Amino acid sequence: MRMYDIIAKKRDGGVLSDEEIQFFITSYVAGEIPDYQASALLMAIFLRGMTPHETAQLTMCMAHSGDMVDLSAIDGIKVDKHSTGGVGDKTTLIVAPIVASLGVKVAKMSGRGLGHTGGTIDKMESIPGLHTDLDRARFFEIVRRVGCCVVGQTGNLVPADKKLYALRDVTATVNCIPLIASSIMSKKIAAGSDCILLDVKTGSGAFMKTVEDSIKLAQAMVEIGEHVGRQTVALITDMDRPLGCNIGNAIEIEEVCSTLHGEGPEDLTEVCLDLAANMLYLAGKGAPTACRALARGQIANGQGFAKFCEMAAAQGGNPAVLENPALFPKAAAEYDVPAAADGWITAMDTEKCGIASVELGAGREQKGDPVDYSAGIVLLKKTGDCVCRGEPIARFYAADKQKCVSAAQLFEGAVSIGQEAPAPVPLVHARVSAAGVERF
Ligand code: URA
Repeated sequence: MRMYDIIAKKRDGGVLSDEEIQFFITSYVAGEIPDYQASALLMAIFLRGMTPHETAQLTMCMAHSGDMVDLSAIDGIKVDKHSTGGVGDKTTLIVAPIVASLGVKVAKMSGRGLGHTGGTIDKMESIPGLHTDLDRARFFEIVRRVGCCVVGQTGNLVPADKKLYALRDVTATVNCIPLIASSIMSKKIAAGSDCILLDVKTGSGAFMKTVEDSIKLAQAMVEIGEHVGRQTVALITDMDRPLGCNIGNAIEIEEVCSTLHGEGPEDLTEVCLDLAANMLYLAGKGAPTACRALARGQIANGQGFAKFCEMAAAQGGNPAVLENPALFPKAAAEYDVPAAADGWITAMDTEKCGIASVELGAGREQKGDPVDYSAGIVLLKKTGDCVCRGEPIARFYAADKQKCVSAAQLFEGAVSIGQEAPAPVPLVHARVSAAGVERF
């Protein structure tokens, strides 16, 4: 088999055979195919697309390119969750404990922040003492005993995605549904859970800017999951505004705690209840509406918060800061950003808000950069709120005032103020399952 012929076939709109896809992935991971040929094939896929069968085959070959986690030694149904990435998205740390407190196991591997989006692992590591680099045995032991554990990606998981993602990043081939779907689903399948809930973000802070594109991506991923015997549901959730009020690391953990106490922002609480409801549904706990009520009950009775503290402590974290978030180390500089005019906030460019938080030190410009856990943004006003000129709309935290001043310039460009209140938009736009698409 020759890579040249595979590239030419896809360039001309052909359908690749299972053997051709297998050959490409195996040989590329082995270093036998140069990046220039892999790039040519990626661009041909970008332009010509893939059939659902090709996408499923690509996903499975990628999933099997490295370790496959076997969770069968842990009793019960294991449910995974994946978010396509957003700003202020701390949902995993709220829903995993809620779901685990109802007896459903969550063995989750998460990522770090990159670009304008935050990462669950950075947020968790802002809890003093907490480790996310646990070995497999310790990870399993915590999932068995506590019910949930969130770690960084360990071992040699999906090396094909590591190589292909880096290549896509520099060849303008990231934004392609079969390539995104296979990248995400190969990691979920290799991570071993029985069922998968996908949170596909849509809007100015997301990969997919429109609801229709987000639905297409969700359909491709649900189809792959079902094709390989993993029950999969996707919610299309709004990322046209940051989720909740806090964007950063330690300040997002504070918001996790307040939400688990029933005192969190309404948008974050509602999205988390929908996510938890669907994870419980996938685990066979009942219809989504009944599961939503179960999830709400775990906030009201404090068991969701107790489970979060138990998980953090099992991972070495100091639960005292969760009981009393005032104990988190504080940023040296604090700075209020005023509203530029009277009126209503009609839009917040969420990507720009994320970039402003990176500028403050809460995220990283480049892989490996350090993160300032105490930096970030607390939104005092959000889209739809009425503001008076000069009134603070956000509070910034950083290591020094200069960082706040330059982030404020970015942030001001993200906020639009108009003379009419904007129309409300749903927090959850659609639910995609094997049964079809429900729009809300
Ligand atoms: N997230 C991934 O893991 N892969 C993609 O291709 C896009 C988002």
